[in-house]
Amino acid sequence: MSAPAAVLAGLGSYVPPRTVTNDELSQHLDTNDEWIVQRTGIRQRHWSDPGVATSDLAVEAGHRALKSAGAQAPGDIGMVIVATTTPDQQCPTTSPDVAARLGLGNVAALDLAAGCSGFIYALATASATLMAGYAERVLVIGAETFRPFLNPTDRGTSVIFGDGAGAVVLRRGTIDEPGAVLTVDLGSDGSLRELVGIPGNGSRHRSTDRPPHPDDQYLYMNGKEIFPHAVRRMAQSSSAALENVGWNVDDVDHVVGHQANLRILQALAQLLGVDKQRVVTHLDQVGNTSAASIPLALADAAAKGRFQRHDRLLLTAFGAGLTWGSAALTWPGVTLA
Ligand code: ACO
Repeated sequence: MSAPAAVLAGLGSYVPPRTVTNDELSQHLDTNDEWIVQRTGIRQRHWSDPGVATSDLAVEAGHRALKSAGAQAPGDIGMVIVATTTPDQQCPTTSPDVAARLGLGNVAALDLAAGCSGFIYALATASATLMAGYAERVLVIGAETFRPFLNPTDRGTSVIFGDGAGAVVLRRGTIDEPGAVLTVDLGSDGSLRELVGIPGNGSRHRSTDRPPHPDDQYLYMNGKEIFPHAVRRMAQSSSAALENVGWNVDDVDHVVGHQANLRILQALAQLLGVDKQRVVTHLDQVGNTSAASIPLALADAAAKGRFQRHDRLLLTAFGAGLTWGSAALTWPGVTLA
């Protein structure tokens, strides 16, 4: 009998309607389209309107993924995981609200915070839950609303980050089925936690007598320092995942990496020895959407008909923490809602 595995059964995505071009940002920031395209590959991003929070995007993407999986009745889903760096609030978590608004009943619901690696960490959590038999189907959503966390005067972050949500339904199946998550590799290095983060609101910050500073609410990032770590860690983690599953680099049909920077994806492809044609890029349209980045890229590539049933996919991500992770899976040929 084949070993149990999480199998991809549904996929959905949502980006807020407002598109923000590089030229629009250049009107109030000391930047320009040429710099942004050459240094990042980003041409536009989507930003939520005032009043729109991460749960709102998560519900939209979750609804589409449930429809894609044909799972809409309460009881069909045993757990909801929302991977996010930008939850609606510190407490309570965002996922119970998302589950309730999706009509999923009294389902288990948890938020997962692992920066831009959140979706891969959530995939691992969902896979373990399914393989242990604690649920038959898990809804995993990566969702972010970065706009309110971006310092409007910081060109180093404002041009990079975008809002959106991507979601998958995973069901309990077997390792030989198309869509099976075959392995996950995860890692972290907390000694580099100062490189990217949002300092305000945590217990460390609140435990000091330091008066709040307006900048504490904003995301800061030392992009130059992070860059080489991102390339190295994603390459190492990808190699570990490939080794776990017994694939050579040439066996991989598509690399779906965290969409932070086109130059990072190109350097990763070079280090792994993967042909650039096999690297999925979506950041030109949405920027860095952190935990939503990989499911958004999956949904975009699937909508364009890029994946064939049984294709071999390598997912890899890197983010605040620092954290990183990779997963290997085959493609099931899901129908997008
Ligand atoms: N427009 C114009 N010039 C700019 C901009 C801008 N938007 N941003 C920076 N510059 C300038 C700098 O001031 C600097 O000028 P100087 O040479 O006169 O000092 C010059 O451009 C080069 O700046 P760098 O910071 O060295 O630019 P770099 O090429 O490193 O690109 C970037 C910056 C895009 C942020 C890149 O470092 C990057 O993508 N890093 C990785 C980020 C990442 O992977 N994050 C993942 C985690 S995020 C999370 O988990 C939430």
